[in-house]
Amino acid sequence: MVIRISPSILASDFANLESELGRIANADFAHVDVMDGHFVPNLTIGLPVVRRLVEVSPLPIDVHLMITDPDRWAPRYAEVGARSVTFHLEAAAAPVRLARAIREAGARAAVAVKPATPIEPLKHLIDEFDMVLVMTVEPGFGGQKFIPGCLPKVAKARKYITRTGKDIWLQVDGGITSADIGRVAAAGADTFVAGSYVFGSADPAAEIEKLRVLASQASGS
Ligand code: DX5
Ligand code: ZN
Repeated sequence: MVIRISPSILASDFANLESELGRIANADFAHVDVMDGHFVPNLTIGLPVVRRLVEVSPLPIDVHLMITDPDRWAPRYAEVGARSVTFHLEAAAAPVRLARAIREAGARAAVAVKPATPIEPLKHLIDEFDMVLVMTVEPGFGGQKFIPGCLPKVAKARKYITRTGKDIWLQVDGGITSADIGRVAAAGADTFVAGSYVFGSADPAAEIEKLRVLASQASGS
């Protein structure tokens, strides 16, 4: 299985985003958390900042929208050049229509579920998406503790994906560290977001490589 590491810049220095991106240049994506103060109680950045990040980033941008009304806003993030755009199933009025609109605008389309949201409603729809994100903390803040109870859902999502025979990625986000990444990879995840673990370290590039090796070993690839 191909393993991808997508560090979350939420844990980086917001006054120096361009140079912070340079510290994670050996990652596969830069994960950008967009929070609107409504869908989640926190507020971060929006479209103008993401547009500039796309322009200066050495890595493709993986946008995670924690916003209400993604049906209106998500395609705009694809239009400004985000490689992957993730919206929340709980917030979307028409998830399949929205995924198609994101693809049409040139990005990979992804759907996210919060810890208490079941994955079963996506069972027969999963091939409409390029990636599924199973949250392993309640969205809204970095630095929270990983919720192990989300692992069976990761395994179930992997089963649905395997059944399609397509290369749909399975991302996890929240509390991922070297301590837990092995069992998350063993459950079937292939794309890992890590914020505070990577940026809280003195050598983010070394931690990225460590996460990649641990996940590869656990997934048997
Ligand atoms: C949480 C965000 C995450 C967060 C991850 O709502 O979606 O991407 O930045 O940070 P850590 O790895 O610190 O949990
Ligand atoms: Zn995120």
